Parts: sequence; structure tokens; C-alpha cells
Amino acid sequence: MSALLLRRLRCLSRTPGSVRAFSSLPPPLPTALVRSTFLDFFREEHGHLLVPSSPVRPRGDPSLLFVNAGMNQFKPILTGTADPRSAMASYRRVVNSQKCVRAGGKHNDLEDVGRDVYHHTFFEMLGNWSFGDYFKEKACSMAWSLLTEHYGIPADRLYVSYFAGDAASGLPADEETRQIWLDIGVPAAHLLPFGLKENFWEMGDTGPCGPCTEIHYDHVGGRNAASLVNTDDPEVVEIWNLVFMQYNRDMDQTLSLLPKSSVDTGMGLERLTAVLQGKRSNYDTDLFTPLLHAIHQRSKVAPYGGRTGSSDQLKVDTAYRVVADHVRTMCVCIADGIHPGMSGAELVLRRILRRAVRFNVEILKAPQGALASLVPTVTHILGGVYPELQREEERIIDIINENEAHFLSSLQQGTRLIHRTLRKMEDKDSSVFPASVAWSLNRDLGFPLDLVDLMLDERGVRVDRQELERLIAENLEVVSDQPADAQPGLTLDVSSLVALQRSGVPHTDDSMKYQYRLKEDGYVFPKCSATVVALFNGQALVSEVTEGQRCGVILDQTCFYAEQGGQSHDRGYFLRDGLQDVPFPVENVVVAGGYVVHHVTATDHLKVGDQVQLHLDQVHRLSLMVNHTTTHLLNFALRTVIGPSVQQRGSHVSADYLRFDFSTKKSLSASQLQQIERCVHDIVSAKHMVHSQELPLQAAMHLSGLRTVDEVYPDPVRVVAVNVPVSELLDKASDPETSVELCCGTHLLQTAAIEDMVITSERQMVKGISRIIAVTRQEATKAREAGKDLSEDVDSLTTRLTLSTPADLNVAQRQAKEVGVLSDAVDNTPMPQWQRRELQSQLKVLQRQSNTVIRKMEIKEAASQAQAVLKKNGQKDVLVDSVETDSMSVLMKTVNHVCSASPHSHVILLAHQRHSGKVLCACQVPKGSASLLASDWATAVCGHLSGNAGGTAVVAKGSGSSSDITGALRWAEQFAHQRLRPLISSHS
Ligand code: ALA
Repeated sequence: MSALLLRRLRCLSRTPGSVRAFSSLPPPLPTALVRSTFLDFFREEHGHLLVPSSPVRPRGDPSLLFVNAGMNQFKPILTGTADPRSAMASYRRVVNSQKCVRAGGKHNDLEDVGRDVYHHTFFEMLGNWSFGDYFKEKACSMAWSLLTEHYGIPADRLYVSYFAGDAASGLPADEETRQIWLDIGVPAAHLLPFGLKENFWEMGDTGPCGPCTEIHYDHVGGRNAASLVNTDDPEVVEIWNLVFMQYNRDMDQTLSLLPKSSVDTGMGLERLTAVLQGKRSNYDTDLFTPLLHAIHQRSKVAPYGGRTGSSDQLKVDTAYRVVADHVRTMCVCIADGIHPGMSGAELVLRRILRRAVRFNVEILKAPQGALASLVPTVTHILGGVYPELQREEERIIDIINENEAHFLSSLQQGTRLIHRTLRKMEDKDSSVFPASVAWSLNRDLGFPLDLVDLMLDERGVRVDRQELERLIAENLEVVSDQPADAQPGLTLDVSSLVALQRSGVPHTDDSMKYQYRLKEDGYVFPKCSATVVALFNGQALVSEVTEGQRCGVILDQTCFYAEQGGQSHDRGYFLRDGLQDVPFPVENVVVAGGYVVHHVTATDHLKVGDQVQLHLDQVHRLSLMVNHTTTHLLNFALRTVIGPSVQQRGSHVSADYLRFDFSTKKSLSASQLQQIERCVHDIVSAKHMVHSQELPLQAAMHLSGLRTVDEVYPDPVRVVAVNVPVSELLDKASDPETSVELCCGTHLLQTAAIEDMVITSERQMVKGISRIIAVTRQEATKAREAGKDLSEDVDSLTTRLTLSTPADLNVAQRQAKEVGVLSDAVDNTPMPQWQRRELQSQLKVLQRQSNTVIRKMEIKEAASQAQAVLKKNGQKDVLVDSVETDSMSVLMKTVNHVCSASPHSHVILLAHQRHSGKVLCACQVPKGSASLLASDWATAVCGHLSGNAGGTAVVAKGSGSSSDITGALRWAEQFAHQRLRPLISSHS
């Protein structure tokens, strides 16, 4: 059924002009139509542009863990920082369906998931936006019309909240919105004022915000449910939030006005679908039922029954909801490049995965692997709208399986630790579980604390809560002591951007960054003089700064490249006219809202209007150009060698090296690495020209052979092509078999300057994503030389070790050490990665060979030492002696030999280690010797020698220091006799 036909059907039951006319529920609407009706309504009837969902991994916004609202990708428009040449800067009305994750940070629904039937960690947000176009009145009337007329929701089931104001923050009540709703026809009894918590929406701790008006739906109907709004009652749920973006919450928590008033709305698709399918629970809609069915098929429990709270006693239905929710979140996050890990969003995803595993295995009794086997069902439900899920399906399955296996093994380890601790508690007759163990389960084994509580609960003990909280707080302090990622520093904030625009400061002309030429003797960079047009001191725009002050300098033009598109910023300094001998070094260069800001610590007085000459660090810039062009060649070479499926996943170009992340099933082989290097070298030696040209974004996107990444591109956009002029590419239908990328970076004009490129490292960061580190020019030469030298070293060591058998154990051990030192050098020296792999395998063989030789020699030496000890001492109850060896391994083997030959002896052997001066101690006693445990004896003897020891009741070892071994042996013997005396006398 088309959205249009459906709309007509729904409108048949409508009484024109009266919103109160709908009292019966509309026929159920499949999710796909719920989504498309929303998008079509705003696109076709109200002139909105449909913008695709952004990935859930925030694009360069450190204030967010995950994309948590449709507006996140539009934040630069709201705050005025969008590149004025980007398509985004021209958006006025936009509609979309955005993948959102609310599992951390300000908006976190993780704890509610499973408990109720309408919270999710992943959900789709339907939204419409106005950026300085329509405002409150149109936003409200369109929302009402869509809900009541197009979706046919009975108006008498809807309640609307609006902002009641907040005196403490100086924010007035939003009476204007109240009046708009009254004019639309919402009865006063359905219009409810609420405070900051409910009706003032903020994206995060900082960022755009404003009063909002929310539309709530009563699932029951036929009553006045006003008192249930915002009470967490599952029968009355919020479905749509209309935010009137007027403010920005700054770093210091103050509110400043945004450049223009905008509208940002968000409606959870899952909740709306439940309403339109006549379901009380989101989990009873067609978005979830196939998934719940699939979960049931893998479980050993009854089908999903929809129970919550105390009626879900065994938590089976809760588990169904948790698994269904979490597997969707995992799919979406992994597809968008967030992997289970150890910090930030990745740590949250790891917890989500572990929570899902636990519910699935422990409550639903599903086998290992069941969780990942749900992925195809998720992609079947969502893959049509978000095709990346289909593309990444295999990788998602692998990552879930790998993490599940790892968690299940930690779970076993943790259960053992809990049992061990419980046994110790029984001995001490305690019922309080030590907080340090609970904390270690959480920190070291990755157990969620609620899992620890649950496991202890089942065993009838409780954790020392006060101490646990202290440990958590202590850890938080440590974490927050670490330097913050996002320094507020000199980043232009919303109010300074507004002030710049209001005072008519034109955007910085930075076209000179591209205006360099290649002459016979190298690159020539243009001279650049400029005028200081604004100064920013971190808080506000100022007209001057004095010596020692940090500030952001905005010039009318610049030749400096600001950090963007994965390329580091330029370095250099500027000189002020009339003050030629005091350079102002440029520490950082960033761009915001079309303004290039040079971060400087003023070395003298500087004011708006001053003339300056810019001095670019040309050596540094050339290195950036070399490494950026090499990055493009590497991207091309990877595709050539591995195939077209290789996708770029990120890159960083610095003057010292380049980093390139890409998708590939497994780590590259030594031969693939060599082929890739060869492919790049061929282009370098061919001295190809590098062409760049600005093209309208639309035209550029259609170029054949083009590589793009997930980024917002400006319009017009710069196209960088190797060996083929960009204009020629426009006429080509087939793949030009060269590198063509959209890129704002600064590139070489000819490839020869790269000279050489070496991949010094390649490894899988997570399954399916590899990272390459490469160096160029003299660094590449150095790496090759280092590789050659190490290869010669490995060859000569191999020859030496294979030709001669070591004379004694000491020589063998020295040789093993040599292998170890060389392995360390091979592991850590920058050298070609393909060569590193080869040398590593050669060294592994050598290591194995020399270990075997050592083991054999140790056994031989231990046997002869044992023979000497036995000959000297005979078969005594207590046998103490010293042995000449430097090796603990030989000493242990000797003790073992002695005990095998004399099974009733309690034996301690000491040895003086020549190189360290330490005394080694090895001890073994007969099995079942209750009066003298090996661990006690060795600990006592090593304690006497000011050292320590450890081991079991039968075997132990340790070390200490003494110049009087004979005295120590006497002491050891007496100790043993004291322990054994009653036993010995009773035997006699
Ligand atoms: N940004 C608003 C929300 O997420 C619409 O609720």
C-alpha cells in the first residue's frame, strides 16, 4: 500500500476542521510505511530536503559518545560553525530518519532497557528541522496535522507539554507555544507546563539547547490522562519532541543566544509504530517480533510473553527485550565503526555486548554463538533503510562471536574467583564480600557491577558497598586526572562566531595555501602579508592582546593550512610590521565557520588592524604534502592489490608519518605488503603529475574511480587526481585506474618528491579493520637500511647457531639471550613490515631450537648434580645442600631428581647465582607431608635470607641474599627438624 493511498484511507474517517473528530484507532500501519509517511509528508508537502542518517559514531564531536539525536549532524549549522561552502551551510528545511544510540553520556537509557517496553539503547529518530526558516507556529501545526490527519491518531489521546520557565536560570515560560497549541485546537486540559528537566532540551553538557514542547500519547483513551504525563507510566508515553533551539550551553555552563532560532524535532519511530499498530509495547511491533521469534528459536525457554516487573519473575521477558535491543545496537555500532573496547563509546559497547551475552546464556539458556546468529534477522529488518548493515554483516557476526567467547571465558574465571572468595569468607565466618574482589571482577574481568551484585545475591552474600563506592570514586578521580581530549582553549564559541558575523568580519581567504609552484630546484611558496581582523582570547573577541597572552588570531588571508581532512596543521610564525625581530610562533591552526584561527602565545603587543607577514615552515609543509599524496597512492595501491572491496576507514597525515585505516578481512601477507609498496614506487618513479581542481559537488560525485569517505564535503569540492587532469575525468565513463579523491589537503604537484615509501607497520585493530603506518623519503631509506642491517644480523646468528652446538649451558643461555635481544630489535625498529614478518618467523625457529638445546642440557646437568647430592648425603629425612648452578630451572630439576631417587626426603637446595649475587632456593617434600609444607619451608628459609618464596605444599621456590650459604643451610635444617621432630620421634 502506498503512503498516499493510506493517507486517503485514513482521511475518510475524518470530519473536516475538527481535531476532536478522531476517536477510534486507525488500522495498523507497517513500520516501513510509518517511516516513509513521515519523510514524504515533510519532503513532498512541506519542501524539506531529505538528508541521510549520519553514522552513530560522532563526526569529530568529542562532547558525544554516540550520535544521540537527529540534530547532532546539524550542530555546526545551529552553532554557526559549518563550513560556509558546504552544502550543509545552505540547509533551511531538512527531514531525516536518524540512527541514534542512547547508552552513555547525558542521554542514557541503558538501565531502563528490558525493564520497560518503550526504552531502547538503539532507536530511529524521525525528525524535521528548520534552520532560521519557520519557527514555533509552523512546527506545531505541521506536527499536529501529521499525527492527527495523516496518521489518523485520535486527538483526544494526545497531550502536549510546554516549558513552564525557570526563574533560577532566568528563562521565561513559553506562553507563546501554549497559545499556538490552543489556537490549533488542543484543549487547555491537555496542555501541561513542565520545568527544565522535562521541557528544556540539551544535546549534551555543552551545545545547542532550548525550550521544547512534547506530544504524549495515551494508549488507553476515553479518560483524562493528564496526571500520568511524564510519570514513567507505560500507558502514557512521549512520542514527539519539538525543540526550539535558541541557546548554546557554553563550557562555563552559561547560555548564549544562537545566531538564529531553529527548530529541531525528534520522534522515536519505535514508539510511533507501536501507537500506529495499536500495541502497548514497542516490542510487539513488526520492528521486533521477527527478532523475538528468532531469539526464541535459539533459546530453551517459552516464547516471549511481554511481562514486566514482578509478573516477569524469572526475568525471561526482560531478557528477551535486552537481547533484542542490544543486538540491534551492536549491529548498528559495529557497522558504523564502533567496536567493543576499553574506553569511551567502545567500553559502553563492550558492556552492552556482555549484558546481552549474560541474559542470552544465563536466562534464555541459548548456546554460545546464538547472539551473533541473530545478526541476519536484524539486517533483514533494518538493512533496507541502512544498507551498511548488509555490507558489514559478516564482520559484525565475527566481532560478536569473538567478544562473546572472550567474555564467557572471563565469566568462568570470575565464577571461580567468587567461589574461592566465598570459601575464604566461610573460614572467617563473614558474610560481607570484599569490595576489592568485586572491583577486580569489574575492572579486570569486565563484569558489570550489577552482574556482580546478582551473582552474590544468588549466593546470599552482599558486597561491602561503602568500600566499593570508595574504589569507584577513586578510579573516577584517576580517570578525570587524565588530560581531557577536548581543550576548550581557543576554539571559537558560538557567541564569538555570532559577534564576528555581526561585525561583518569576512571569512578568511585561505586560498594561498594551495598557491605553490614546482620549479626546477623545488617548491616555491608564495609570500603572504595579512591584516589582523580579529583576536579571540578564549572567552571573547578583543581588540588587542599583550605579551604572554594566548590568543586566536584571525587574519583577512592566510597561507597556513588549518587541521582538517585528516591532515595536520601547518607550522611557522608571523612577524608584525614595525617589529621584525619578534616572531609570533603559530602553535595550532584551526578552522571554524569559515574563519581560520592561528593559535599564538603573543610574544609582544598585537592589535586588530596590525599588518603581519606570514612565514610558513616550508620543510614541515613539504613533508605534509609528500605524506598526503602518498596516502592517496597507498589507498589506490591497496585497491589494486587487494581488490575494490577495500574501504578507507580513516587516515591521518603528519609530517613524520602517515596512518591509514581500511577494511580488509585479514592481516596482509608479506607478499601483499611488498606488492603494495611496489605499486606506490612505480607511480613515484613514473613522476606522475598530481592534478587538483574545484568542481561542483554533484559533478564530482559522479567521477569514475572516485574514492570518498564519510565526511561532509564543501560545494564546490576539490578533486585530486594523479596523472589525469580532472577535466578529462569528467568525460571518462570507465575507471581511470589511478587515484581520484575528494580532498581539501595540500598535495605535491608531481609524485617524484616522495622518493620512497615503506610500510613500517600493519596490523588488525579489530577484526576486519587494519591500520597501516608508513614513512616516506629519508625516513623510508632509514627504515630500509635498518631492515637490511637486522636481516644480516639474523642471518649471521642463524649461521652461528646452526653450525656449532654450545659447549655448555651458560653458552646456550647466552645464545638464547642473543636471539631475544635481536627479536626485540626486529619487533620495535622501524623497518619494512614485510621484512619484519620474515625475520620474526626466522627468529621464532631459532628461539625454538635454542630452547630445546637448553632444556636438554638442563636435564643432563640436573641429573649429574642430583647424583652428586645423593652421593654426598644419602637418603635422609631432611636433606639440605648447596649446588653449583646459576639456573633456577636446573636447581628445580635437581630437587626433583633427588626426590624421585629418595621419595621420603624433605629437600632444600640452595645455589649462589654468580651474575646477580642472589641465592636461589628450590624445595620439594613428599606428597602428604603435613608437618612441613614446601611453601612454608621455602618461605621461611628465603625470609631468613631477606627474600621471598612461593609454591605449593609439595614444591616451592624462591630467592634471597646471603654470603653465608652454609649458615643458611644449617638454619634450614634446624627449621625442618623442629617441624618434623614429633613425627620423627613418633616414628622411632
Ligand atoms: N533533539 C530532540 C530530541 O532528541 C528533538 O529529543
